[in-house]
Amino acid sequence: MKAIVQSDYGELDILKLRNVDQPIADDDEVLVRVRAASVHPDVWHVVRGQPRMVRLMGAGFLRPEIRVPGTDLAGVLETVGKNVTRFRPGHDVFGEGVRGHQWHNGGAYAEYTAVPAAALALKPGNITFEQAAAVPISALTSHKGLHGEGGIQAEQRVLINGAVGSPGTFAVQIATSYGAAVTAVDSTNKLEMLRGFGAERVIDYTKDDFTRQGERYDLILDVPGNRPLSDARNALTPKGTYALIGHERFGSSGGRWIGNSTERFSRCSPSHRS
Ligand SMILES: NC(=O)c1ccc[n+]([C@@H]2O[C@H](COP(=O)([O-])OP(=O)(O)OC[C@H]3O[C@@H](n4cnc5c(N)ncnc54)[C@H](OP(=O)(O)O)[C@@H]3O)[C@@H](O)[C@H]2O)c1
Repeated sequence: MKAIVQSDYGELDILKLRNVDQPIADDDEVLVRVRAASVHPDVWHVVRGQPRMVRLMGAGFLRPEIRVPGTDLAGVLETVGKNVTRFRPGHDVFGEGVRGHQWHNGGAYAEYTAVPAAALALKPGNITFEQAAAVPISALTSHKGLHGEGGIQAEQRVLINGAVGSPGTFAVQIATSYGAAVTAVDSTNKLEMLRGFGAERVIDYTKDDFTRQGERYDLILDVPGNRPLSDARNALTPKGTYALIGHERFGSSGGRWIGNSTERFSRCSPSHRS
């Protein structure tokens, strides 16, 4: 089969289209004929091996252990392992090529990939393969941050920082569906879109700093993670929860191992630039 392969960490030019052996699904896996796979920041973190923490978290210390990138996917089942009872060959599915954290390659940028059945769901008929492949990690990350860590409840005041990225857009809509009063933060030309997603209030991060407006929130979901926790704490109620999503180029305090390696302060609001 054909696949995109990387034999080292690096930039786009290390990705090559190659013929490789078709994987074989084990007893708990299914073989998916991939129709669509998404490109999201975690895929790119692993392709580059940055932040370096990914190399210690299963991606491979010196070079990628799994050579085919890509995690989120949608496709058609070719075969199912003997322990798999939820699916049949021919089912349209979507989900993740790897279970748990996404900081290693998942094999989705290929014609076929073998995937744990537990990481997939049936694709609803009213969305395309491309739409389905864009959902898994972004929506799961938002839902975990809001519901799992954040314990979101109706009528809470919730702030989503970086609300028009992929976790952000899901987060605004998920929080609204819980009945929360959502304040969404992003840049100028995206604010109207955020109102359309259900945000009650919007803040333009290029003009205003949500940590210095005197407003308090029960839950902050911070996608860029671009300011110190001490600043975010200013905007939390005494029992409020702060859930951090971002890393690399975001997350100014992370350093090259777990976060930003080169752009310290570059995406902060003007009042934080130094
Ligand atoms: N995508 C995923 O599925 C996923 C899952 C888990 C974790 N993450 C992590 O989340 C981080 C962001 O991913 P993403 O997909 O959301 O990226 P993205 O598509 O670049 O979105 C980030 C959003 O945040 C905005 N933003 C940038 N600086 C900001 C600031 N200082 N204050 C408020 N908003 C700001 C950006 O607006 P402008 O572009 O207009 O500046 C953009 O709309 C990455 O570290 C990624 O690894 C992503």
